[in-house]
Amino acid sequence: MSSNERSFTLTDNSSGESWELPVMHGTLGPDVIDVRKLYAQTGCFTYDPGFTSTGSCESKITFIDGDNGVLLYRGYPIEQLAEKSDFMEVCYLLLYGELPTADQKAKFEHDITYHTMIHEQMNTFLRGFRRDAHPMAVMCGMVGALSAFYHDSTDIADPKHRMVSSYRMIAKMPTIAALAYKYNLGQPYVYPKNKLRYAENFLHMMFSNPCEEYEIDPVLARAMDVILILHADHEQNASTSTVRLSGSSGANPFACISAGIASLWGPAHGGANEAVLNMLEEIGDKSNVGTFVEKAKDKDDSFRLMGFGHRVYKNFDPRSRVMRTQCHKVLDALGVHDEPLLEIALELEKIALEDEYFIEKKLYPNVDFYSGIIFKAMGIPTTMFTALFAVARTVGWIAQWNEMIEDPSQKIGRPRQLFTGAEQRDYVDVGQR
Ligand code: CMC
Repeated sequence: MSSNERSFTLTDNSSGESWELPVMHGTLGPDVIDVRKLYAQTGCFTYDPGFTSTGSCESKITFIDGDNGVLLYRGYPIEQLAEKSDFMEVCYLLLYGELPTADQKAKFEHDITYHTMIHEQMNTFLRGFRRDAHPMAVMCGMVGALSAFYHDSTDIADPKHRMVSSYRMIAKMPTIAALAYKYNLGQPYVYPKNKLRYAENFLHMMFSNPCEEYEIDPVLARAMDVILILHADHEQNASTSTVRLSGSSGANPFACISAGIASLWGPAHGGANEAVLNMLEEIGDKSNVGTFVEKAKDKDDSFRLMGFGHRVYKNFDPRSRVMRTQCHKVLDALGVHDEPLLEIALELEKIALEDEYFIEKKLYPNVDFYSGIIFKAMGIPTTMFTALFAVARTVGWIAQWNEMIEDPSQKIGRPRQLFTGAEQRDYVDVGQR
């Protein structure tokens, strides 16, 4: 971060008073106007619901150029990472800022692998949920509950504690997600296997059972690894901002990540991959696509095409390009060519991409549009989709949380408001109302 001569002058037209607002520059992306002293100087707050023009923090982790469809983790383009790297390496990169050497990578992978089991008593805790609980409800509860099981890593002032809890969450998240799934199915839980790599292990815990060995298809394992890479971090989105805001009060990391999971659950965010599949099922047939596209364009209809549009990407979502390729690889590997939902999805993609409304509003298929189709083809139930997103995003949340704790300018997040309610008035006794 640097500042140079550029500044803005803010003038109060009623009094004629002026203030200089300094400008800060990052390495990439728009400059920001520093308004930290604005209230002290002018007595006014800024107003920006949805934070469409607000930078909430300084960060060195992830950069997005939404107009040009660029996504960089620590400077590396997502396309290169998806093609050449693997999820463990990306986790290391996000956490430590650099790609690991071969030795660092091997040690990191070993350390994560040896934290994948969860405290056995957590199984008892899990049984408190109804069988039909949504996996995201289970994830919120189980991850929050980690703070009750791992007291030895919740001192946020201690960098070693922070790293141990970070490793624990990256390692245990697939175990917890798979547990939630098995619990719902009524099948016995499958313990992690240390000889398997991260994505393979996840597939193993999801799909094997004590009666039958699950053969891991390398195409599916690679697709899962790529999906994890693509979802690993995404700058200051709703759930990441939730993690930062929760953490800014000094809350323990398990509680903060649980808050992030809750935020991710919503259909406007991570819940969109589940919503895409529900929408495709509602459309029902390729011939109905046009009607649904018209509904999405109708101002008087609240229906939106799930999996289309993005707050930041106004050209294309670079993740969805990679995901589209993976989608076709998975469908080929599984020999799925006549999946009706896929046909509907492709028809929808075609019509929406050619439609004036979607072109004008820059609404393109986002990452959730394709991930839902891949998960469906892999045999993952719809309600698990967002849980998978949470598994992948955990490393991003943790890297951002660590960065915030280490930032010397960090303060508790405390936005202000424009109050439009009743002015002060006197209490009226109940008999006189
Ligand atoms: N279908 C139809 N119209 C849409 C859609 C859509 N999916 N998305 C936006 N619009 C319209 C919207 O009605 C508005 O029209 P107007 O200007 O006439 O009022 C205009 O486009 C701008 O929309 P917005 O809601 O102001 O834009 P936003 O930046 O606040 O919202 C979004 C972004 C992702 C929440 C929104 O596009 C959406 O709801 N998409 C569907 C849900 C979805 O796929 N979410 C996943 C996002 S990617 C994964 C992630 O990062 O979590």
